Amino acid sequence: INGIVTIDGVAASGKSSVASGVARALEIPYLSSGLLYRAATWAALENGLTFDTPEAGRSLTALLGSWKEGGQPLTLRPLAGGNQIWQGDHDLTELLHTAQIDAQVSAAAVLPELRGWVNAELQAVTPPFLAEGRDMGSTVFPQAEYKFYLYATPRVRAERRVLERQQDLESVEAALKLRDERDARQSAPAPDAVRIDTGGGTLPEIIAQVMGHLSS
Ligand code: CDP
Repeated sequence: INGIVTIDGVAASGKSSVASGVARALEIPYLSSGLLYRAATWAALENGLTFDTPEAGRSLTALLGSWKEGGQPLTLRPLAGGNQIWQGDHDLTELLHTAQIDAQVSAAAVLPELRGWVNAELQAVTPPFLAEGRDMGSTVFPQAEYKFYLYATPRVRAERRVLERQQDLESVEAALKLRDERDARQSAPAPDAVRIDTGGGTLPEIIAQVMGHLSS
């Protein structure tokens, strides 16, 4: 691989585990676009910004811009084993996978200014890499060499996610369905993406399936 691989899919479809496994096998970094959306959402909440006003997107990107100018930018560290987000010398990563961020992130992610900020952060990275998210193959890297789209039923996804959150299965499944609806606009698969049902195999099997397409 000397270019870009994209792995898109719905919430808890297994994207980041598959992306990490494939990136390690290929010995290239992977970029989690969702982690950038989560970090921007955290930044907004910390600073009392809301997402429901006409100037919400501009206010948020102004905040992110001022952190950068002040020498404290939000920075994605695209480690193959798992991405991190740092601000200066603080690792924010463990603050970003909470039920509160889960519930707010889709409202931030519809703001065009924020989408522009995330896309520019990703497009500044030099290939080769694997990019993971919702619209990596359709919008951000339409020129990617290989594209994948992962999906699974809400129940299968909720059964996975409940292992990572302090919530019961029913509320995790309801929250995932709500996020599916809110994220629908940016979640349409690229027409040239290979579609994989991740309910149909174990993690190593899905990684092997992706690797099979890359080597054929
Ligand atoms: O793993 P999960 O899908 O739960 O989360 P994620 O990939 O960290 O994405 C978190 C949220 O960021 C999604 O629910 C979307 O609202 C947003 N997102 C997006 O809009 N576009 C992307 N390319 C990636 C994430």
